Amino acid sequence: MNYPQIKSTLFKALREAGSLMKEAIDRPKDIQKKSELSLVTETDCACEKAIIAAVQKDFPDHAFLTEESPAFGNSPSRWIVDPVDGTTNFAHGYPVSCVSIGFEHEGVVRMGGVYDPFRDELFFAEKGKGAFKNDKPIRVSQVKKLSESLIATGFPYDVRENADYYLATFKDFLMTTQGIRRAGAAAIDLCYVACGRYDAFYEKNLQPWDKAAGMLIVEEAGGRVTNYTGKPLGLNDHGNLATNGLLHAEMIEILKKTT
Ligand code: IPD
Ligand code: CA
Ligand code: CA
Repeated sequence: MNYPQIKSTLFKALREAGSLMKEAIDRPKDIQKKSELSLVTETDCACEKAIIAAVQKDFPDHAFLTEESPAFGNSPSRWIVDPVDGTTNFAHGYPVSCVSIGFEHEGVVRMGGVYDPFRDELFFAEKGKGAFKNDKPIRVSQVKKLSESLIATGFPYDVRENADYYLATFKDFLMTTQGIRRAGAAAIDLCYVACGRYDAFYEKNLQPWDKAAGMLIVEEAGGRVTNYTGKPLGLNDHGNLATNGLLHAEMIEILKKTT
């Protein structure tokens, strides 16, 4: 596998999609509803098309798992793509969204990139080779106690059906941390754990494209990513917990109460 070429294609795809997002954020949008709360704009689809075209130019045989189209291709090499993570923010012109792309080979995510075009921050990790923001190495925070932490969460699209559950957990963390943020883009949340802006992030029911890149970036930055019981996190698992490692046990204790 030619990983330097994969990396260069990944960066190109991230930046192309990012510039489409940046151009479109302040314009009126064509917004469709996939469900009551889940939106898709023409920019989500344009970004996805641009990413697939960029990858296929260099790797015509690779497979894809993307948010806005059915999965396709039959190859041990697969690109896992969230063309716009934070679509609700984007649809409202709130500039907290990003492009997230993971590259998986033989079932293992080997590279991941997340690009926030509004801050021009490109997060990247390669398995075993560390994590970076705009080419500078990043590390998770050193905060040891939940009572001194700033954490993040998100509410999945079934929030109205399971509001009591989400609010019970949210309250537990409101009472035990210095603060909790809900910015609305899971891939950015994961990258912020990786670079120490957040000490931890949890969210139920993330999709593979929300987390493929971000999970690797957290791990390569020295953090820990598991499900809510502390077991290794698969792309299709439900409870997602990413921390600086030091807060993991304390957070699992709290998540266990409501899970
Ligand atoms: C969503 C965002 C949001 C999270 C949701 C995701 P989308 O992704 O990451 O922060 O709370 O669970 O589905 O739909 O904007 O790509
Ligand atoms: Ca997403
Ligand atoms: Ca999306």
